[in-house]
Amino acid sequence: MLCQHYELGLEGADTAFSVDASNVTFGAGCLGEAGEIAKSLGIRRIAVFTDDALVKTIHVQKVLDSLKAAGVDIALYDNVRVEPTDESFQAGTKFAVDANVDGFISVGGGSVIDTAKAANLYSTHPADFLDYVNAPIGNGVPVPGMLKPHIACPTTSGTGSECTGIAVFDLLEMKAKTGIASKMLRPTRALIDPDATLTLPANVVAASAFDVLSHALESYTARPYTRRPAAATPALRPSSQGANPWSDLGCAEALRLLGIYLERAVDDANDVEARHQLMWASTLAGIAFGNAGCHAPHGMSYSVSGLVKDFQPDGYPKGEPMVPHGMSVIVNSPSVFRITADGSPERHIDGARWLGADVADVGAPEAGEVLATRIVELMQATGMPNGLQGVGYDASDIPGLVQGSIQQRRLLDNAPTEIDEEVLTNMYEGAVSYW
Ligand SMILES: NC(=O)c1ccc[n+]([C@@H]2O[C@H](COP(=O)([O-])OP(=O)(O)OC[C@H]3O[C@@H](n4cnc5c(N)ncnc54)[C@H](O)[C@@H]3O)[C@@H](O)[C@H]2O)c1
Ligand SMILES: [Fe+2]
Repeated sequence: MLCQHYELGLEGADTAFSVDASNVTFGAGCLGEAGEIAKSLGIRRIAVFTDDALVKTIHVQKVLDSLKAAGVDIALYDNVRVEPTDESFQAGTKFAVDANVDGFISVGGGSVIDTAKAANLYSTHPADFLDYVNAPIGNGVPVPGMLKPHIACPTTSGTGSECTGIAVFDLLEMKAKTGIASKMLRPTRALIDPDATLTLPANVVAASAFDVLSHALESYTARPYTRRPAAATPALRPSSQGANPWSDLGCAEALRLLGIYLERAVDDANDVEARHQLMWASTLAGIAFGNAGCHAPHGMSYSVSGLVKDFQPDGYPKGEPMVPHGMSVIVNSPSVFRITADGSPERHIDGARWLGADVADVGAPEAGEVLATRIVELMQATGMPNGLQGVGYDASDIPGLVQGSIQQRRLLDNAPTEIDEEVLTNMYEGAVSYW
């Protein structure tokens, strides 16, 4: 591992990093602790957020039983939209206001957890919807204070949303994905039960595992915090602060686990060890990217999902076209890492080695290629789409994809090399197909 952080920082750059995470409980069966935790947080009436598929599962039942046993009053909202929108965030908010709750628990994937974060935010600090949305799409108004307690229970091994201060949604009128980012949004408690992943369809395991893989690689190769201009005051230090010694630890272990268990967890729903280990990888990478920040593959993913044409993947709700988040990210990643390797070749080689590639004779000029090749091998082995073409785009769509993501400066500026419109175009061109 390269000790990039011990280089002298640039003049005016930050000299310290912060570590923020939700208070985490991890382990098989821990969903049964929900009621005691809610009680300990002083919650008397709780909004339980989930989606219409999960509400029928044992996972939500366990949480409801535990809350009832603890004497906590329940308001159930099972109408979360998979891949949420501004409209679905506002529907969740209306529910929370009407239900008059003093706390939240979300049981589901990133879609559910993010919807609960938004409902908590807008019901606690009412505002015009675009006020808290990241600039330049929204007004970027800082969240004025603490939210109500939120216990986040992930049921996918993917987004890490239970530990981040981000809520992501599609802004329908702009056909653009964007988000709200504030440390205030971070759930109070993350209750992570890896048994919840045993019922996941194979395609959701794969898509969410590639989300984890890219969180870890993007955070590990992000511009180090010692090269980011210092914020005016410590309180303004962003969550996307750049790679740092703490996030490096989580990324390394998450990538090592993915190299061993990703294919096994997709292939066999009965491989409990593999599915549990992916949940741990997801937790580690979630804490890492929540403190380092992602870069280009995530920045580019926002237009890949926002401009969807007619793609309808197996394992996800049918009816409307969608590119699931993990797929919208991973179709970009090999092409991006081929280009960003120049900025930190040693770190790209580390990533390839942890994912299981043979890097014995690999030098800096081949760093991007060895990493891209290993990611593509894993994508092929797990039925992921073959680049942008695999989710319904062709070369003629690239100008639109570029325009849809060039404003994601928070993410693009966190890359190890400069990304302007020409570089972004090259990145999409290299992502059209891989095999
Ligand atoms: N806030 C963040 O930090 C962050 C980070 C990355 C992604 N995201 C967002 O999260 C969303 C994606 O979340 P996701 O990938 O976790 O998936 P998801 O929440 O969209 O769920 C995907 C599908 O899996 C089903 N499902 C979930 N858990 C299940 C289980 N245990 N058993 C059976 N079925 C189950 C759901 O019902 C749904 O149909 C996107 O909107 C993405 O932008 C947020
Ligand atoms: Fe992600």
